[in-house]
Amino acid sequence: MQCIKRASIAGVAGYVPDYVLTNSELEQMVDTSDGWITTRTGIQERRILKGEALGTSFMAIQAVKDLLQKTATDPTTIDLLICATITPDRITPATANIIAHAVGATHAFSYDLQAACSGFLYGLDTAAQFIAAGRAKRVVVVGADKMSSITNYTDRATCILFGDGAGAVLVTADDGDSRYGIIDTICKTDGSGQDLLYQKAGGSRLPASHETVDAKAHYIHQDGQNVFKAAVTAMSDVVLDMMARHHLTATDITYLVPHQANKRILKLVADRVAIPMEKVMLNIHKYGNTTAATIPLCLWDYEQKLKKGDKLILTVFGGGFTWGAMYMVWGYDG
Ligand code: COA
Repeated sequence: MQCIKRASIAGVAGYVPDYVLTNSELEQMVDTSDGWITTRTGIQERRILKGEALGTSFMAIQAVKDLLQKTATDPTTIDLLICATITPDRITPATANIIAHAVGATHAFSYDLQAACSGFLYGLDTAAQFIAAGRAKRVVVVGADKMSSITNYTDRATCILFGDGAGAVLVTADDGDSRYGIIDTICKTDGSGQDLLYQKAGGSRLPASHETVDAKAHYIHQDGQNVFKAAVTAMSDVVLDMMARHHLTATDITYLVPHQANKRILKLVADRVAIPMEKVMLNIHKYGNTTAATIPLCLWDYEQKLKKGDKLILTVFGGGFTWGAMYMVWGYDG
């Protein structure tokens, strides 16, 4: 759907914890090897949030504070704060409320949005719609996950993949120049994938009990091969749809910004949409899959290279299944 008043990213910031969990440390924990992990996923290390009672909000607050500082934004002028996460501090209240309170966004309303690894893109689309409708002028969208809190470090099929982190963007209404900003978004959902990537217990269907804890049912579980295939097909198809809708060729696109799930997935998607790997934002080698944080962490890492007028296609895939693509023209020089 096209935006009426165009929303634009006006700044980006991120936070990753200090602790680095390397492949060689994982070799001591499960039956795996640095060679296998690097070849099969492209991941060399990931960050882990250590510390008593520190949750997702801790990382998100650091990212949002940095964002407000670097964009010289008065927190009381924020109208809305959306936190995309699958690892909220608590089931209720929303982690977004905790973040808004901590950063002094006293006039903002705030809520969490859950779309697994697609959460940040869904949140950015929601922000764009609030701006298009004239309901908000300044929105903070933060993607943050403490994946280590739901990862089973005795399961080599999942523990090698995930890491912790947070990234945030400031979204503002355009200043009358409609050449820049979020041009178009496609969001997709298919609930038939619900049992292929999920956390079995802890919700209303199977609340926490001694049995669920003993059965390790509070950890993330996935059918890796089927998720892999679904991710490649969904992300490449939706990117091709977006390119066709706007008559874009690979030459027109400055960067493809894909959810960092597995480097092999990203290479296959890039091949299918005929965008060379030099144009694909990549940081999976150092952070792993940080779920809702991968896209803003990529934008944060590449911000210095970005120039006003650059054409970006963001694409995501996650549990649910959820997936999508967003086409934007970058609005400022990094
Ligand atoms: N170290 C060493 N061997 C491992 C291993 C590990 N960490 N994990 C699995 N293996 C083994 C398997 O047991 C299997 O052994 P076998 O052939 O003796 O049975 C072999 O490696 C191949 O397993 P397979 O599951 O086919 O590996 P894969 O190439 O599909 O890679 C994933 C596994 C999980 C890395 C891959 O499927 C994947 O990335 N899937 C998508 C995950 C994802 O992105 N999820 C989030 C989506 S947002």
